[in-house]
Amino acid sequence: MSQHNIEQEFVTVTEQAALAAAHTMGIGDGRHSDKVAVEAMRRTLDDIDIAGRVVIGEGERDKAPMLYVGEEVGRYKGDDSARGIDIAVDPLEGTNLCATGAPGAVAVLAAAERGGLLHAPDTYMEKIVVGPTARGRVQLDAPVPENLRNIADAFKRSVEDLTVVVLERDRHQQLIADIRSAGARIRLIPDGDLSAGISAAVRGTGVHAVMGIGGAPEGVITAAAMRCLGGEIIARLVALDEEQKGRLNELGYRDLSKIYSTEELAQGNDIVFSMSGVTDGELLRGVRFFGGGSRTSTLFMSLAQGVIRFVETIHREDPTLPVMFR
Ligand code: FBP
Repeated sequence: MSQHNIEQEFVTVTEQAALAAAHTMGIGDGRHSDKVAVEAMRRTLDDIDIAGRVVIGEGERDKAPMLYVGEEVGRYKGDDSARGIDIAVDPLEGTNLCATGAPGAVAVLAAAERGGLLHAPDTYMEKIVVGPTARGRVQLDAPVPENLRNIADAFKRSVEDLTVVVLERDRHQQLIADIRSAGARIRLIPDGDLSAGISAAVRGTGVHAVMGIGGAPEGVITAAAMRCLGGEIIARLVALDEEQKGRLNELGYRDLSKIYSTEELAQGNDIVFSMSGVTDGELLRGVRFFGGGSRTSTLFMSLAQGVIRFVETIHREDPTLPVMFR
């Protein structure tokens, strides 16, 4: 995965998913937006010289027609002599954000050598995400005020000057009350704790932590990004109902008290991550369409190479199209 052209192709994968989803922005049909993003991602993955296996995808084989868990993708799929890689995808993170034209929808992919990403079940995770500045300063079971004090110390500022992102869900009422009484500021988001976690690991975004219960697959993909950014996610699998409890049990996740570190969620040494904006967000602009072409913004990261790239691509349908600076 260290070849430059394969990296470039992973960028193309999330760009194509973002372009497809962005065409559906605001149509009010999240399922359709997700479907076109999945189709574009699937098609583009098959053009890459890899023997890929989806470990986090759109669901189990019987529930998802494409990018299901266990599906093989890439030009060398099924070729045992090719170096295999594991792939985690979220072709449209924030389906409702895209469906309503709200900010923060992205197309995301993480990849690693075989076994490099936890095969997380499609349930929930209780998570805390912080960037490199506050890495090692939070604990999942510590009281919220203590974690916030430690994050504030790491940033050399007061708790009142921290902003914590929380998914706006009923299950977070106590968490929100605890953050408020500790004095920190809160940004409630309707969806998208994955990209919020990435913002928390980038200075200048104004986000210092993400807390609360969100998707488990998103947790693993966040961990892959944290490995590249030097940030941290600590998490514990959560079942929100009996069905999920049964599912976790069935999959062999019996110890629901286990706290996963970033390295346990994404243990690979050859992790790559690509995220393209669908609608405008904190870190990335959404897709911009203009007569004869479009423009995408992507964050690409490689752990092994130690690179973080912000990639702006102009997709020209009309070769006479003049290139604009912005
Ligand atoms: P989708 O893009 O799959 O809709 O997920 C969006 C999201 O908000 C994630 O960012 C988050 O982890 C998860 O959903 C939370 O799940 P729920 O909406 O069930 O609380």
